Amino acid sequence: MAKPKAATKTAPIQVCHGQNCRDMGGLSLTEQCQRLGIGFESISCQSLCNHAPTAKLNSVAILRANLDKILTVR
Ligand code: FES
Repeated sequence: MAKPKAATKTAPIQVCHGQNCRDMGGLSLTEQCQRLGIGFESISCQSLCNHAPTAKLNSVAILRANLDKILTVR
């Protein structure tokens, strides 16, 4: 008999809402996450503005983040 799996908590995607990331689609990205029911939280500038919009999952940066990348890493 298979042992039941323990429930795992999925960390929310952290989406940078610093000015540069917002200008490059960070707000749109959070709206897309919200529509799909993907947990997210807003974070301040991560000093990765050259790669905007940026997001993080478990402290790993997602550069030039988009929905495809987020769905891939989740
Ligand atoms: S504004 Fe997002 S990394 Fe700087």
